[in-house]
Amino acid sequence: MKITAPRGTFDILPEDALRWHWLEATIRRIFGYYGYQEIRTPVFEHTELFQRGIGTATDIVEKEMYTFNDKGGRSLTLRPEGTAPVVRSYVEHKLYSRGGITKLFYMGPMFRQERPQAGRFRQFHQFGVELLGTESPLADAEVIPVAVELYKELGLTDLEVLLNSIGCPACREEYQKELFSRLSSLRELCVSCQQRLQKNPMRLLDCKNPRCRELTEDVPQVTDYLCPACSEHLEKTLSFLDRAGIGYRLEPRLVRGFDYYTRTVFEVINSGLGAQNAVCGGGRYDHLVEECGGPPMPGVGFASGMERLLLTLEQQGKFAGFSSAPQVVLVVLDEKLAADGFELATGFRREGITTESCLEVKSLKAQLRAADKLQAKFVVILGEDEWKDGQVSVRRMADGKQWRVDREEVSRFIKDLSGREP
Ligand code: HAM
Repeated sequence: MKITAPRGTFDILPEDALRWHWLEATIRRIFGYYGYQEIRTPVFEHTELFQRGIGTATDIVEKEMYTFNDKGGRSLTLRPEGTAPVVRSYVEHKLYSRGGITKLFYMGPMFRQERPQAGRFRQFHQFGVELLGTESPLADAEVIPVAVELYKELGLTDLEVLLNSIGCPACREEYQKELFSRLSSLRELCVSCQQRLQKNPMRLLDCKNPRCRELTEDVPQVTDYLCPACSEHLEKTLSFLDRAGIGYRLEPRLVRGFDYYTRTVFEVINSGLGAQNAVCGGGRYDHLVEECGGPPMPGVGFASGMERLLLTLEQQGKFAGFSSAPQVVLVVLDEKLAADGFELATGFRREGITTESCLEVKSLKAQLRAADKLQAKFVVILGEDEWKDGQVSVRRMADGKQWRVDREEVSRFIKDLSGREP
C-alpha cells in the first residue's frame, strides 16, 4: 500500500518552496527594521509548559496537543504554539537580566490535532514576535503595525484588525461571574459551552455554533467590566493606533483561546479565507513569565499562520510572476563535448548565472523543447563547429535571436543581455 503524508500535513514541493523563501526573507527583513531578533526553540517541550502556559481548560491543551512519552517516560509535546516556548527560553536563559526590553521573533512548524479543512492543518507554520519587559500600552500599539506593515509589504489587501480588551484577572472575575449567572440555566448551549461555562465562561463568546451565538448575543461586554487601570490601558492603546493611522475595529466578542492573555487581544482577518479567516492572532500576557518561573515581567506579541498568508496571496494573484526558471540551458550537441559543456556550466554557476544542462546528449530539437519547458531565458549551444573556433551560440528564447560569442566572453554577454528586453 502507498504511504502518504499524515492527514493535516503536506509537503512543500520545489515550485512552492520559492514562495516560502520569499515570505521568510520578507518577514526577516521587516522584523529587522523593528529591532526584533530571531530565537529558535525546540520543536518539542515538556508537556507541563503548555499546560501551565496555555491553560489546562483550553481547547488546545484539552484536545489538540500531540503528546507522547519518550523512552525515559517523560511526557513531551510537539509545540502547538510559540509563545510559551519563547517565554520558557527567556526565563531559562535569564534574558530579562540584560535589562530593558527584549524583542524576539520566531518562525517554524507548530502542531495541533484539529479537524483539517481549508486553511487549517495539523502541522502548520507560524511566525511571531514577542515583546517582553514593559507594561506600556505603547508596546501593544507597536506590535500591531509590525503585522500590518508586514502584510502591506507582502502585498496583502482586504485585511481588518479586530481588537478587544479582556482585562486583568481582577476585572475578569467579576465579568465571569456575571456571565455564569446569566447563562448557567441555558440548557441549549452546546456540550463544549456547557463545559466552558464551568471552567472559563468568557470562552463561550468564542463558540462558532450559531445557536450558542444567538443565546449569548445580549450578554454584557467584557469592556464594560474593566477596572480603571485596564480601561486606561485600552484607551491609550487605541489612541496610539489612531495617531499612527492604524485602522482597527473593536470586537467585544474577541476573547482568544489561551489562558495567558491579559488586557489587549487582537486578530487580523481576511474575509476571502472563509471560516478560517484569521491570518494573525495576538495579545498581551502579563503573568506568563511568572507562570513559567521567571520574575514579574509583562509581554505582548502575535503569531501569524504562514499557510493562510500564502493562500490569501495566491488568491490575490501575487505569485503569477514567480518562477524558478533558469537563466541558461546549456545544450551540448556532441558526446565528445560533454566535458567542455560541464566546465562551461560550472563556470556560469560560479559567475552566479543559474544554469541547467541536459545531462544526456540529445538532439538539438529535443533540448530546445526542454529549455522551452523550463522557461529558460537563454540557450547556450555547444556545437562542434563553433567550439573549434572558440565560440558558442547564444539563443534568446523570447524572440529566437541568436549570436555567436567567444567562449571567454559568454558569461559577460549573458549578463549584459539579461538586463535588456525582451
Ligand atoms: P493563534 O491564534 O492560536 O495564536 O495562532 C496564530 C495564527 O496561527 C492564527 O491566526 C492562524 O493564522 C495560524 N493558525 C493557528 N492554527 C492553525 C492551524 N491549525 N492551521 C493553520 N494555521 C493555523 C497563537 O498561537 C499565539 N501564540 C499568538 C501570540 C503570540 N500571542 C501572543 N504572542
